[in-house]
Amino acid sequence: MKKPAKVLLTLVVSGVCLALIVTVATRLTLGAASVSAGADAQSTFNSKCAKCHGKDGRSKTFRGKRAHARDLTDGSWQNDVTDERLFNSISNGRGKMPSFKKSLSESQIDELVGYVRRLRR
Ligand code: HEC
Repeated sequence: MKKPAKVLLTLVVSGVCLALIVTVATRLTLGAASVSAGADAQSTFNSKCAKCHGKDGRSKTFRGKRAHARDLTDGSWQNDVTDERLFNSISNGRGKMPSFKKSLSESQIDELVGYVRRLRR
């Protein structure tokens, strides 16, 4: 084989290998991300929301009682509210509840809506 052809072949082969590695690596990280979404919502809830709503969502904390935070586990209330309303209340705040649109991304708020739904008892 002539030298330029050899160089070209090496370049093509290493390019294909690199593309393969990148594809496999992104698949792996994306897979891990979707698995941990639920766990992320839980840690966001525990760090940002539990001081009023409690880790169990019942809002029996000192601050929760003082602010009249709602019991998020209440099934009949859950029946009455849409996901849009939950999303809006978390982003813009409601009554004494602060707004979170500056400190949380839309996808984090989306995950929290799902998390609040799972608190239902
Ligand atoms: C400072 C205390 C406080 C914190 C922190 C707080 N909340 Fe609230 N939350 C409240 C209060 C008070 C209400 C009742 C508001 C009302 O209906 O007047 C409420 C209501 C809600 C509701 C019901 C809203 C509706 O539309 O009826 C949801 C859902 C909710 N909170 C979720 C969250 C989530 C998720 C977080 C964390 C990102 C959070 N809260 C953090 C005090 C708090």
